[in-house]
Amino acid sequence: MIQFQAINKVYENGNVVLKDINLTIEEGEITVLIGPSGCGKTTTMKMINRLIKPSKGKITLHGEDISTMNPVTLRRKIGYVIQSIGLFPHMTIAKNVGVVPRLQKWEKQKTEARVDELLKMVNLDPDLYANRFPSELSGGQQQRIGVIRALAADPTVILMDEPFSALDPISREQLQEELIRLQQELKKTIVFVTHDMDEAIKIADTIILMKDGEVIQTGQPEQILRHPANDFVKNFFGAKRMQVNALEAPTVDEVMVENPATAYPSRGLASAMKIMEKRRVDSLLIVDKNNRLQGSVSIYRVLDQYGEETKTVADVMMPVVHIVQSGTSLSVALNIMTEYQLSNLAVVKGDNELIGLITRGSVVSHLAEVYSPPLNGGNVDAEV
Ligand SMILES: Nc1ncnc2c1ncn2[C@@H]1O[C@H](COP(=O)(O)OP(=O)(O)OP(=O)(O)O)[C@@H](O)[C@H]1O
Ligand SMILES: [Mg+2]
Repeated sequence: MIQFQAINKVYENGNVVLKDINLTIEEGEITVLIGPSGCGKTTTMKMINRLIKPSKGKITLHGEDISTMNPVTLRRKIGYVIQSIGLFPHMTIAKNVGVVPRLQKWEKQKTEARVDELLKMVNLDPDLYANRFPSELSGGQQQRIGVIRALAADPTVILMDEPFSALDPISREQLQEELIRLQQELKKTIVFVTHDMDEAIKIADTIILMKDGEVIQTGQPEQILRHPANDFVKNFFGAKRMQVNALEAPTVDEVMVENPATAYPSRGLASAMKIMEKRRVDSLLIVDKNNRLQGSVSIYRVLDQYGEETKTVADVMMPVVHIVQSGTSLSVALNIMTEYQLSNLAVVKGDNELIGLITRGSVVSHLAEVYSPPLNGGNVDAEV
């Protein structure tokens, strides 16, 4: 267990970076430090291996005051993984992974065996990878080496400062899953810094949310999502994720696409085509200048009449038979869509004013947002 007791950090320039931080980091858990840039996450983490010294307060590791420990011995007990990977470019993978065991004067054979074991743990074949140089590995593979290097001498504590943030979303997800899998076996005390709340929700046993040098809330992801301490926490984790009841009774307003592709009735057919092409949709809702819904046109209707240069959208549009009012529950809307085999459904308020469109994509996006962390930037195309 790591404990911070009334930790303060004031830099020489008077910058107060940590304000009376009290923390307990439990043994054998993944504790995620998260918060906006500059809130003090890295400073907090680097105090654990004494790369940064508190101005006031006490930090204990397994009950022992770390300021009384030899910093070099302390650091060898603590694995450290940083964002930029930090592999030594002129050392082979095997040499990189074996750095700490060698410093600890392990026997050569024991170190080699440990390196092989660790490479296998992250599915890298030692015969293929041990003698390569870091530049001969992909970013994700290099970051795996960074992780196993931190594990090499079997430290009880591992500090990871945004270890996966430089990776593409797919490698990142893979490494998160590997970390969870490794942790199930290894049960290390891991302190993990991230900016990414999806990552925090996925891997954390405990989340510590910081802001401006203070701890705002600590708890299991589920607790924080269900009981955010204040508006900052709510906004930080995103309003929609907080609505744990979202599926029970979401309304169409929460799910709809808010700017469906539209055109005025006076538009010509070539213009209508252009709008569809631009928005990558196969139909348009037709609205008047007050945004009142007049009808819809499909690309098939437009193509069918395309030769008639003088025709406008008004000439080819069809009435919209099925609409829902703002405030309708999503389940009602979905029933209508299923029953009439609609690929989308317009949402109106008051006197037929168009305010949005339910599409299959928008429903999927909504579910994904509420229930599972989406891949970074992996939004489902929510167009018509
Ligand atoms: N040597 C220093 N002297 C003065 N201020 C510093 C120094 N090092 C860091 N700071 C300040 O301390 C604050 C906290 O920095 P820290 O690196 O802990 O933030 P962070 O939460 O890790 O941010 P990020 O998410 O951007 O990595 C920042 O405002 C930073 O500018
Ligand atoms: Mg940082």
